[in-house]
Amino acid sequence: STESYHRTDLMTITRHVLNEQSKHPEARGDFTILINHIVLGCKYVCSAVNKAGLAKLIGLTGNSNVQGEEQKKLDVLSNEVFLKALVSSGRTCILVSEENEEPILVEPSKRGRYIVVFDPLDGSSNIDCGVSIGTIFGIYTVKDQENPTLEDVLRPGETMVAAGYCMYGSSCMLVLSTGSGVNGFTLDPSLGEFILTHPNIKIPKAGKIYSVNEGNASNWDEPTAKYVENCKFPRDGSSPKSLRYIGSMVADIHRTLLYGGIFMYPADKKSPNGKLRLLYEVFPMSYLMEQAGGQAFTGKQRALDLIPKKIHERSPIFIGSHDDVEEIKELCGAF
Ligand code: AHG
Ligand code: MN
Ligand code: MN
Ligand code: MN
Repeated sequence: STESYHRTDLMTITRHVLNEQSKHPEARGDFTILINHIVLGCKYVCSAVNKAGLAKLIGLTGNSNVQGEEQKKLDVLSNEVFLKALVSSGRTCILVSEENEEPILVEPSKRGRYIVVFDPLDGSSNIDCGVSIGTIFGIYTVKDQENPTLEDVLRPGETMVAAGYCMYGSSCMLVLSTGSGVNGFTLDPSLGEFILTHPNIKIPKAGKIYSVNEGNASNWDEPTAKYVENCKFPRDGSSPKSLRYIGSMVADIHRTLLYGGIFMYPADKKSPNGKLRLLYEVFPMSYLMEQAGGQAFTGKQRALDLIPKKIHERSPIFIGSHDDVEEIKELCGAF
């Protein structure tokens, strides 16, 4: 009800993270400061996305990134915004971005103990047509702050201390987990604050939606083809599932988290490791999904158990409702 919204005890993301911090007596507020700087980046990108069409921020830069993708103006702008926000927080020591070939080592005078891996703008192909896009991030703590190394980054997703995404859609929502559940915050533009609107998100145990790019069907392996076939023509005579595919991982995952179902970017003959990048797309989303009671599976193993060898390495992913992922695990012969 609207009057409840005008409660005076607005739970902003900062207050929420401070509450979480109070559970860690040794915490010195560094994490809260880091999150505040990530939030600042999200607010900036949200405003840039909302006026992209007006501010000539759509379209290509004419350059390509390390992924071999044509960089959009918003890819570059978002990347610069997050790099600057993260460095200026004084709480990071290594940054890994989809848009930077090498990891960024923060200058010693501004170093902190956190490592942030991020996709500054996810779903770039949807920018120019106004479809939801987002930002994805994951946070590790460095082993030795005095000499951060690449080994600090090439670790299982399981060792992340936090992960989240911001979706720039009909509303701007930030979804975050710091290891004890998942919470969703909606930006109130009149306050410039992210307000807790979705406390303790849990994904439905089973869903009625499958999400995959059917255009790749000719390249799928047997288990994927069989799973999708069963979504469309259920062997047990139940009603077929609905297909929903937006093409922005953040939007497809956000819908899956709230409504249930499964999102897949499988391996295929063309790309044996699928398309999505392990460190800053698959790991953060897998961390969130498990915190919300779901599963994340690569076709061979639990996604969070993978150890990246390279910072831009890709991995197939089947992620979503517990029971839905269980089905694909059985088809892949993994128990
Ligand atoms: P990004 O825009 O950060 O490069 O990521 C795009 C990804 C992801 O957002 C989405 O799930 C996937 O690309 C869609 O790929 P297809 O267009 O091949 O389906
Ligand atoms: Mn990209
Ligand atoms: Mn992406
Ligand atoms: Mn991106």
